[in-house]
Amino acid sequence: MAVCIAKLVVFSLLFMSTVFVSANSHTFARSLLPREIGLKEEKLSHLHFYFHDIVSGPNPTAVRVAEAKMTNTSATGFGAVVMIDDLLTEGPDMSSKEVGRAQGIYALASQNDVGLLMVQNYVFTEGKYNGSTLSVLGRNAVLSGVRELAIVGGSGLFRFARGYARAKTHTFDLKTGDACVEYDVYVFHY
Ligand SMILES: *[C@@H]1O[C@H](CO)[C@@H](O)[C@H](O)[C@H]1NC(C)=O
Ligand SMILES: *[C@@H]1O[C@H](CO)[C@@H](O)[C@H](O)[C@H]1NC(C)=O
Repeated sequence: MAVCIAKLVVFSLLFMSTVFVSANSHTFARSLLPREIGLKEEKLSHLHFYFHDIVSGPNPTAVRVAEAKMTNTSATGFGAVVMIDDLLTEGPDMSSKEVGRAQGIYALASQNDVGLLMVQNYVFTEGKYNGSTLSVLGRNAVLSGVRELAIVGGSGLFRFARGYARAKTHTFDLKTGDACVEYDVYVFHY
């Protein structure tokens, strides 16, 4: 009898722990407090850098990877898709301190003006931001004075990022097509 009760107790314990474990490991979604994943106060940061779009020479950092049949006859280059790994620097000079790279795609998405669809990650390499990224998704009418692009997310120090970037052409070489663009980024993050 005592053995039976002991077995029953052991069985109940096993059964209960199984139920407990499975309830725990199969929880698909739950709410939690921000501090449980180390989030403290949200802050606003301003980043300022220069973006170098190099399409010419032996080492371009922006290369056309696709186009449509009509792209060559489109006044606005409609349909071209360009993959970039562009240098981001502290100052306008390419030899000034590197702060990161802009990696991703821009595509000529407008038939009426030179309007780029920008889908890029800024990957920072400087100081405490090393390894953190910001994700950009926006429209860039490159012939306009200042263009505004949305910052839709981020990683590392930029988790939960949201904000906007203002882009202004600093220099554009008509002969080569190379450009240097000044960026001011305003972003909320933790
Ligand atoms: C567009 O023009 C370039 C050079 O002018 C040529 O290399 C390319 O094949 C053309 N593309 C198409 C899709 O016709
Ligand atoms: C950034 O991090 C990488 C990988 O951890 C490291 O190799 C590199 O030296 C760091 N760069 C700077 C500028 O701290």
